Amino acid sequence: MTGDLTSITAGAGDHSLEELIQRIRVLKKDMNALILAHYYTVPEIQQVADIVGDSLALARAAENNDAAVIVFAGVYFMAETAKILNPDKQVLMPDTYAGCPLADSCPAEEFMKFKQQYPGAIVVTYINSTADIKALSDITCTSSNAEQIIRQIPEGQQIIFGPDRNLGSYISRKLGRNMILWQGYCYVHDAFSERYILKACQEYPGAELIAHPECREEVLRHAAFTGSTKALLDYTVSSSADQFIVATEPGILYEMRKRSPQKKFIPAPKDPENPFSVCTQMKQNTLEKLYQCMLNRKPEINIDETLRLASLDSIRKMLAMTPV
Ligand code: 13P
Ligand code: SF4
Repeated sequence: MTGDLTSITAGAGDHSLEELIQRIRVLKKDMNALILAHYYTVPEIQQVADIVGDSLALARAAENNDAAVIVFAGVYFMAETAKILNPDKQVLMPDTYAGCPLADSCPAEEFMKFKQQYPGAIVVTYINSTADIKALSDITCTSSNAEQIIRQIPEGQQIIFGPDRNLGSYISRKLGRNMILWQGYCYVHDAFSERYILKACQEYPGAELIAHPECREEVLRHAAFTGSTKALLDYTVSSSADQFIVATEPGILYEMRKRSPQKKFIPAPKDPENPFSVCTQMKQNTLEKLYQCMLNRKPEINIDETLRLASLDSIRKMLAMTPV
């Protein structure tokens, strides 16, 4: 993956990439729009975005801005969160079919039954969840503030954590705190296995393994550093190491290489036949779709007001518990 625009043609439709970028910039000004993009989107989207960040940074950016329109290049729950925080703004998304399978693996009806088994428990849910799940939760969290939030819950208080079991058990192990876990996982991160990760470590003995907490324990136990996409990125800048094996979605490598061009970044292997673990949903955001959604002001994210208000509380609580 490189930052060279001329090397990227997928999704360009009838327009050249330079032309598309120019048109997007003009539209952005005319519409007073803010383009937010996650690190896992393709490089050309990251290049045209106003802010590229992890889930927490993007939620904060969605909350604090003067734009009239938010254009969200990420997955559905991210744009939905932006709309929950901004009912009066138009929130657009290049492709609303870009859902997060982890979020979709936790249906509200089943989660409600799960929750009913532990009536005294506090429910902390990962932001990678639907608005229905957030409405059933006490506090939302992301991978960058999950630990900080759990630390603020009194010892002895029972906690339900969902939907990501790997993030939940990572925090449990780190804090020595038992939590009741919903058994969801991200197919991208769960696909990394100890066997192939150790092979990569042998192949690059000078490299540090860094991993996202959505990876399994068997992978995390070998990592020199574990953190959210932004924490991983910051670590690669501050670490004295000059080579990293990166166990997360490889979209982040674009920004890592940009920030530390002298360092080497090796995407962690999934298995020999299928070397990179790619989030196909994030990659559904193309520059052409971004342009078209701004031009046509659709697809637009809308949410029922009762559901919005019910889910807003848990997001607001997260933001209050993790001040900048
Ligand atoms: P963060 O960028 O918050 O670490 O989340 C990773 C992810 O999988 C987003 O869907
Ligand atoms: Fe969902 Fe995993 Fe893709 Fe993130 S990387 S959007 S958690 S499927």
